[in-house]
Amino acid sequence: MSSTGPLLSKTIEIMGEKYPTDNITNITPSIISKVPLRLHARPNHPLSTLRSLIESTYPDFAHLSSLSPIVTPFKNFDELSFPADHPGRAVTDSYYINKDLMLRTHTSTHEVDTFRDGKTKWLLTADVYRRDEIDASHYPVFHQVEGAKIFDANADGLKEVEEDNARLEALLAKENIVIEDVPNVSDTNPVQEGHDPKFSGAVARNLKLSLNTMLLKIFGQATRGIVDNKVGKEEPLRVRWIESYFPFTSPSFEVEVFYQGEWLEILGCGVVKRATLDTAGVQGKIGWAFGLGLERIAMVLYSIPDIRLFWSMDERFLSQFEQGRITTFKPYSKYPSCFKDVSFWLPQYASLHDNDFCDVVRDIAGDLVEDVKKIDQFVHPKTNRTSNCFRINYRSMDRSLSNEEVNDIQDQVVLRLKDQFQVEVR
Ligand code: PHE
Repeated sequence: MSSTGPLLSKTIEIMGEKYPTDNITNITPSIISKVPLRLHARPNHPLSTLRSLIESTYPDFAHLSSLSPIVTPFKNFDELSFPADHPGRAVTDSYYINKDLMLRTHTSTHEVDTFRDGKTKWLLTADVYRRDEIDASHYPVFHQVEGAKIFDANADGLKEVEEDNARLEALLAKENIVIEDVPNVSDTNPVQEGHDPKFSGAVARNLKLSLNTMLLKIFGQATRGIVDNKVGKEEPLRVRWIESYFPFTSPSFEVEVFYQGEWLEILGCGVVKRATLDTAGVQGKIGWAFGLGLERIAMVLYSIPDIRLFWSMDERFLSQFEQGRITTFKPYSKYPSCFKDVSFWLPQYASLHDNDFCDVVRDIAGDLVEDVKKIDQFVHPKTNRTSNCFRINYRSMDRSLSNEEVNDIQDQVVLRLKDQFQVEVR
């Protein structure tokens, strides 16, 4: 079943290349237009400064940032041990060019190739794509940094890890940081078959120490002078480790940081699965990997209230930032919002995924849409038709929208819904 309804064209063009479409194609022109932008590589952009700050914490790592987002589902999922029925594969969750190509949903996609390349410690920054709801903190394109380090799986390697752990522990002991920890390995967060539990534990410990040091640099001490906050000075940086699960790491963890009164989810990580290294043709190694989202962190560090702002071309936004400095965003003005409801019947027994609705709105309204909420849904007992009502909130970041303009956009949304999903507007 197609997720976006009838297709208009047999090929689509991305970055000057033509690709055949098929019945699972769901990438939209609005998404295609983001592919060349590469915000993480734009001088002065907040995402680029944050990337550099993270890179400066790992000066002896290889720093990669120019890999194409067009990958095979095999690379994005199978190579990383995702099961065949993993929900991330669904056309409602990921953007497909056709059944053989998609936009990467995470930077982990490149783990195998990077390890195969012979790199043993590396950071990789890239744009990633996920179909999602529309609100101030969700955008279908965002940026991740993946980091990894692998050691020789022998006595010398273990010694290296343990010495590094002792060094990092001594460094952290002097810092104003409070860490809530979980065991390095446990029954619920197991050591992998074929890994020495002692070595796996030491690697997990190294991962935690390395990331605690990095987080301290981003949120605390090291940002003194480039961002004005109390964390790490008078107030301790609070970091919380949680057991987690990823198909391509074990044990696995998530990290949260307490910042401005809230626990923020920062990253996922773990001890790299042996299967990943085997596929990469890397033998006799053990190590860790992590992946973090840049937008969420940049939003709090720069006080940027809406994720759409990262994509703004408005000089009032762009001119506020300087490479290498984290400064508080000064809102230039908030323009009025305008909401419109649309209620409709779907064809008998049909359903419509919220993400399909959001992609229609996103494709027509672009960044003029601030959020979308489903405010009502029911199935008519006799006709078996589903009724949906969505509320679309329109607001420009840069100017006032006229009523006429919003009505016009809303009309186009309705037309597209009728055309693509055969809905009957109520
Ligand atoms: N790729 C994972 C995500 O996007 C994060 C991750 C990276 C987890 C590396 C473990 C190791 O959620």
